[in-house]
Amino acid sequence: MDPLLNLCTDIKNCKKCDLQYSRKNPVCGFGRPSPKMMLVGEAPGSKEDDAGKPFVGRSGKVLTLALEKAGVKSHEVYLTNSVRCRPKVGRTPKVSEIKTCSSFLRLELETIRPRLVVPMGNSAIQSISTILNRKLGRISEVNDKVFHCGKYYIIPQYHPSAILRNPKKMEMFKDSFARIAAFLEDLETKKMEYIFNKYLVQSI
Ligand code: URA
Repeated sequence: MDPLLNLCTDIKNCKKCDLQYSRKNPVCGFGRPSPKMMLVGEAPGSKEDDAGKPFVGRSGKVLTLALEKAGVKSHEVYLTNSVRCRPKVGRTPKVSEIKTCSSFLRLELETIRPRLVVPMGNSAIQSISTILNRKLGRISEVNDKVFHCGKYYIIPQYHPSAILRNPKKMEMFKDSFARIAAFLEDLETKKMEYIFNKYLVQSI
C-alpha cells in the first residue's frame, strides 16, 4: 500500500494527544509524491478542520498568492503541518503536542524526501528541529536563511498568518518566495559550491 495513504490513515485514527478532543477532522499532508518543496505550517485552522485539507482558508490564500507570484504552482508543492489537529480556537500548539506529532512529519519527510523544506513559523521550525535533532532558532532570527542538513535544504519563512496580521509584510513574503523559486532553479542546474556561496548556506 502507498506509504502516504497508510500514514494518512494513522493520522485520522490518532489519539496520541489532547488535540483529539478539539478536532473535527485530522488533516493529512497534501500534494504530489515528488514535489519541488515541502511547506510546513503550524496547525489546521477552522476551514482546514472542516475540510480535512491543509491551507484551504485565509492563510492558504496568502500562501498561494506568494507562490503564484514566484511562478510556483500550488500543485508543485507538498503542504503539511507541525500538528494535524486543530487546537482550541486561538491557541498555538504546545511543544509537547508538536513533539508527539513530529513522528508523522518525520515519516512524510522520509517518504517524500524533498530536497527543500520550508518551515513556516515557530511551530514548524520546532517540529523540523525535533526531527533533525538540530537547533534552528526563532523565525525572527532565521527567516530567509538557508540551512543544509543531510539530504535537506531548509529555508524558514514567516507563517502566512503573520502576513495576514501585518499586510505590510506581504511584499517581503512574495520576495522571499521569489528567492526560494530561484534557489530551486539553481538547485537543479548549479553545483553545490555555487549554491553554498550564493545563498550563504549554513551546514547544521
Ligand atoms: N495554518 C496552518 O498552519 N496550516 C494550515 O493548514 C492552515 C492554516
